[in-house]
Amino acid sequence: MAPILDIKNLYKNYGATEILKDINISIEPGDFLVLVGPSGCGKSTLLNCIAGLEPISGGTLSIGGKDMTHVSPKDRDIAMVFQSYALYPTMSVAKNITFGMKVRGVDQATQDAKLKEVASLLQIEPLLNRRPSQLSGGQRQRVAMGRALVRDPKLFLFDEPLSNLDAKLRVEMRTEIKKLHQTLDASIVYVTHDQIEAMTLATKIVVLKGGVVQQIGTPAEIYNRPANLFVADFMGSPAMNLIPARVQRNGTGTQVSIARAGGAIRSC
Ligand SMILES: Nc1ncnc2c1ncn2[C@@H]1O[C@H](COP(=O)(O)OP(=O)(O)O)[C@@H](O)[C@H]1O
Ligand SMILES: [Mg+2]
Repeated sequence: MAPILDIKNLYKNYGATEILKDINISIEPGDFLVLVGPSGCGKSTLLNCIAGLEPISGGTLSIGGKDMTHVSPKDRDIAMVFQSYALYPTMSVAKNITFGMKVRGVDQATQDAKLKEVASLLQIEPLLNRRPSQLSGGQRQRVAMGRALVRDPKLFLFDEPLSNLDAKLRVEMRTEIKKLHQTLDASIVYVTHDQIEAMTLATKIVVLKGGVVQQIGTPAEIYNRPANLFVADFMGSPAMNLIPARVQRNGTGTQVSIARAGGAIRSC
């Protein structure tokens, strides 16, 4: 089967500044790919490049087996949920969810059916006539998800969708998103700086630092066999203990020497 998303040798510059360097990522249908890394490492930029909201400076990008490198966002068969939710403040919840379909000329009966289906899935039926200002943060988040879900796209893109919620709600919504992924068997690229979110949601994790991919793997691979010190230190809660040591070949075996406080050396 063709990968649902295939990124090859992608570069992104802003002027003379290189933001993303030689990114290679491929995901299969049904994958939940989480892009994780510290603030400013280029996660949103990469998501915007996948969406077509930012042109790329080098490389290629295909979605569902089709080259999308130069295709406009509306023709990429994707749906995106932004960190800010970007709901239309003057429209009701129902209108927010159906607006995109209306613009695309979807007939009224299909719009109504889709709205009903998604509202039931997200349990927001009682909210359909409210305005965004009359909703809690968690409810707004659901509406933003609803707007993406009615599109039935090849690929969902989420940019830190839970970062505006309080800690308790974040954990609840994390569970819901996980269930939703399983129910819909959707393909998802999800950005977060939260490594616990990455570990619990992902089928595949990409760890990014300074615009360079550090490691790609399943949560278990990343956790158990970090590719470098950055990944080892960044993933895991509580963080892994890192102790400077010297490793030497010693005749038949290997000697590890650890410097202790006071300058003493302990070998084993
Ligand atoms: N439009 C822009 N022009 C110039 N630099 C930008 C622009 N957008 C983002 N950047 C820079 O690109 C880097 C990555 O940003 P971003 O992708 O938003 O990081 P993340 O989402 O991982 O926090 C940052 O150093 C940021 O300042
Ligand atoms: Mg970001």
